[in-house]
Amino acid sequence: MALIAKGLDGIVVDNTSVSQVTSETSSLIYRGYRAQDLADQCTFLEVAYLLWHGELPTRSQLADFSKSESAHRSIDPALIEALRHIPLQAHPMDIVRTGVSWLGMEETDTLHMDMPRTELAALKLLAKIPTIIAVGYRVKKNLPIIPPKPDLPFSENFFNMTFGKIPAPEVLKAFEVSMVLYAEHSFNASTFTTRVVTSTLADIYSAVTAGICSLKGPLHGGANEEVMHMLIEIGEPSKAQAWVDDALAQKKKIMGFGHRVYKKQDSRAPTMDRYGRALAKTLAQPKWHDIATIVEKTMIEKKNIYPNLDFPTGPAYYLMGFDIDFFTPLFVMSRIAGWSAHIIEQMKANRLIRPLSEYTGPEERPVKPLDQRG
Ligand code: COA
Repeated sequence: MALIAKGLDGIVVDNTSVSQVTSETSSLIYRGYRAQDLADQCTFLEVAYLLWHGELPTRSQLADFSKSESAHRSIDPALIEALRHIPLQAHPMDIVRTGVSWLGMEETDTLHMDMPRTELAALKLLAKIPTIIAVGYRVKKNLPIIPPKPDLPFSENFFNMTFGKIPAPEVLKAFEVSMVLYAEHSFNASTFTTRVVTSTLADIYSAVTAGICSLKGPLHGGANEEVMHMLIEIGEPSKAQAWVDDALAQKKKIMGFGHRVYKKQDSRAPTMDRYGRALAKTLAQPKWHDIATIVEKTMIEKKNIYPNLDFPTGPAYYLMGFDIDFFTPLFVMSRIAGWSAHIIEQMKANRLIRPLSEYTGPEERPVKPLDQRG
């Protein structure tokens, strides 16, 4: 019998120069830079540039890149019209998936997208996904749509399109930090999905649509939404310890904890936690972080399991004013940077991804004609 690595646990499937996850030190570097250092010192657009070009931009390279990004923010009126007709119960991840799929239909001959067209499509996706998310948000709330403003920086423009105003600098910084920390994470499930689709020579829009589907699940990106649902269900710091004890006694998974690769602390989590707590202090809303402190302490004491990035991101996005079901779309808005870098890397050294399986069904047997099957 072949050795089976369920969940591809421990299997190295290819090389990558985009990022490195190191299990022993629980660290993450993008093109050589620690993710938490980038979060402290760089904007999301600088990091997207780094992921795509391998180096941080100079001031003039960044100016050109920002100009190209802002030039592509608008979405076609036909797509806005299509989004106006979404079923109102639709999960925002399904709205983004549909929007990205639509963008693919705007291209000609997607079966033959060469490298320059793919790179341009990556830029369009980076610029237009925030617009799709904001339109989805406003349609769901029956609010007038606010078009993108090319003169605003990336995050300011997104907040303006979504809420009609630009928040305080602390909110913007915490949001940018989340964008930088979510941007890339080697061969996680959704990135691997985009590489599998790309390996068949399907186009970037198909790969990203599939990546969004993969990210939606609560064992992956959807965990940030589950974290906030949990904090709300717990309700008060005084109830947190008993809630976690009870959940663990019932063998429930506590969302926002644990990781396939990291054995200790996810190196991104303390950075996001720091900015989230600063935000809570500015807004004088300490409750969610007080509950989170007890949940985290209990998980480490009882299970030796540490928070992953989704744990601090959940309450931070909540405090910024986002509805819970929009948390994972925000993850998409950032991870498009990493997905695109991997899609391009896969295209440059492609081989069809096609693993094997160990068959456990019936032995080979003859087909009985229908009238002999009883
Ligand atoms: N809460 C409680 N127990 C957990 C746990 C969690 N969040 N994560 C892992 N464990 C426990 C499992 O119950 C299991 O215990 P057992 O060996 O006694 O059965 C053990 O740790 C291994 O867990 P397993 O689910 O097999 O690990 P995995 O590598 O397959 O899964 C995750 C990794 C991320 C899917 C898993 O930790 C999880 O489901 N976390 C919650 C969802 C989440 O936050 N996802 C975002 C990831 S960035």
